[in-house]
Amino acid sequence: MRPNIAIDGPAGAGKSTVARLVAQKLGLVYIDTGAMYRALTWKALTLKLPFTEEVLATLAQNTLITFAQDCQGGPQKIFCDGTDVTQEIREPLVTHWVSVLSSYGEVRQELTRLQQKAASSGGVVMDGRDIGTTVLPDAPFKFFLTASLEERSRRRHQELVNKGNQVTLAEIERDIAARDLADQSREIAPLAVAEDAIVIDTTELSIEEVASLIVEKYQQEVQ
Ligand code: DC
Repeated sequence: MRPNIAIDGPAGAGKSTVARLVAQKLGLVYIDTGAMYRALTWKALTLKLPFTEEVLATLAQNTLITFAQDCQGGPQKIFCDGTDVTQEIREPLVTHWVSVLSSYGEVRQELTRLQQKAASSGGVVMDGRDIGTTVLPDAPFKFFLTASLEERSRRRHQELVNKGNQVTLAEIERDIAARDLADQSREIAPLAVAEDAIVIDTTELSIEEVASLIVEKYQQEVQ
């Protein structure tokens, strides 16, 4: 069985881009757990459901979330009950409500179960907030990516501006600071550095450099 790689860190630290690149370079499967929380949030908003733990936990048990690789080499697509929601899950409304949904223990329990199942055959690069601490505590490779709030906001702002969104840097910085606080202070599976994780500060590093650090570490230990 090929070992799994866990990559955690706060919003905007570059986790998804790095994780996708690492998976590509090593021939592993990439799983974006943030996208799973977002897809469920999108479905709840679309169905206009109340954001209570009971309702959202039942929704989690009755939703099929799947991923598909883009044949052109672009970002992975995510489907919610067969509907492509890759674009929709990045909308600001989803970004706002996903913090509420992801604070509920019963919702986390269900998504954690699905994530563990997806990684059970090995060979997975999984990114999120609680992968090294809760979802895959036995993963032999754990990384925690950080970067300053200013740098993470700058990157997210650039990404959104490139997509044609009109948001100010100050708005992004407020949003990321609020999400940091929600992620770190929630009672269940908060954002935390696993004891055995390697911490990488990405403030001064390019995506390629971060991915190379992870790939080298993996290749040193896996033949
Ligand atoms: O990585 P992201 O911004 O797409 O994640 C969306 C939200 O989901 C984020 O606010 C925190 C939450 N999340 C979580 O609680 N646990 C995870 N493993 C992944 C994401």
